[in-house]
Amino acid sequence: MKPTILLTGKTGQLGSELNRLLLRLGEVIAPDSDDLDLREPDKIRGVMRDAKPQVVVNAAAYTAVDAAETDEANARAINAEAPQVLAREAQKQGALVVHFSTDYVFDGSKNTPYVESDSPNPLNAYGRTKLAGEEAIRNSGVAHLIFRTSWVYAMHGRNFLQTILRLATEREELKVVEDQTGAPTSAKDLAEAATAILKGIIPATDGSLTFPKISGTYHMTAAGQTNWYEFAKAILEEATRAPQDLPWLTSATNGRPIISSRVLPTSTQAFGSPAHRPAYSVLSNARLLEGFGVTLAHWRTQLHRCFCSSNC
Ligand SMILES: NC(=O)c1ccc[n+]([C@@H]2O[C@H](COP(=O)([O-])OP(=O)(O)OC[C@H]3O[C@@H](n4cnc5c(N)ncnc54)[C@H](OP(=O)(O)O)[C@@H]3O)[C@@H](O)[C@H]2O)c1
Repeated sequence: MKPTILLTGKTGQLGSELNRLLLRLGEVIAPDSDDLDLREPDKIRGVMRDAKPQVVVNAAAYTAVDAAETDEANARAINAEAPQVLAREAQKQGALVVHFSTDYVFDGSKNTPYVESDSPNPLNAYGRTKLAGEEAIRNSGVAHLIFRTSWVYAMHGRNFLQTILRLATEREELKVVEDQTGAPTSAKDLAEAATAILKGIIPATDGSLTFPKISGTYHMTAAGQTNWYEFAKAILEEATRAPQDLPWLTSATNGRPIISSRVLPTSTQAFGSPAHRPAYSVLSNARLLEGFGVTLAHWRTQLHRCFCSSNC
């Protein structure tokens, strides 16, 4: 018997990849935000009780970092209160919760990769609500895997890759922030890594689940590090070399040629986003490797693969 997996956020960057991959592991029930609005706790309880999942994969989130500054109550409902309800229900039902969190739980004052035991200190509302979600899951006593990731991009959705490609068709010169360091991570690689881990802990034979002493928080990002300015330059390098008929690329550029010939570095202060962001948010993935033998490719490799494929 295959396990039942309840997936939230199936329209998102990560959720859409998971929706495809998790089918290999079990029966996937994936309500969209119309069927299950995570701001409605009773709805969450109802879906959990009807679905009786063995695994809950929560890929939904309020991810608009700047908007969250003036919309923290909504962000909190989705990023903190909903995970708490999911976790409490899952705990009662003996299910495993797989949840995703962010590098923005840290304040960026370190200059070596953050490990899971480092103290969080979010600088913005999004980070605060995501940290509250993590804590709610940990405090619920449910078996859980919390994967903290960073700078997620995909061939669709709202992300830095898409923004740079669009702007590069509109402006000859782009100014991009150079003083934030992190690890851009492809949603596809992230979903593949999470699925590989789940495959290892959901025995395929009879669907009975074993959750050995794996419960906990793990960092899961691309290897290496860069800044937004270098990432933007790498995107344009790849885009100019890539087959121009790649469907996702044509869609990102709206079929228009790239005209940006110059990418210039700027500072966070000059750029002036509403939300503060950590200057350094590289996450050490050592615990992930130690616990599951899983490691993600270097960010530059992930980006390159994206431009060689119809799906990134
Ligand atoms: N994006 C990043 O750079 C980044 C960085 C670090 C960590 N993360 C974490 O990684 C995970 C996946 O992020 P992502 O980039 O894939 O997110 P995303 O593309 O923004 O997708 C968010 C998903 O959440 C759903 N959602 C939003 N509000 C909802 C609600 N009220 N009820 C139900 N569903 C709702 C959205 O549904 P609709 O499409 O219907 O709105 C969408 O499917 C999240 O936990 C995020 O915090 C992301």
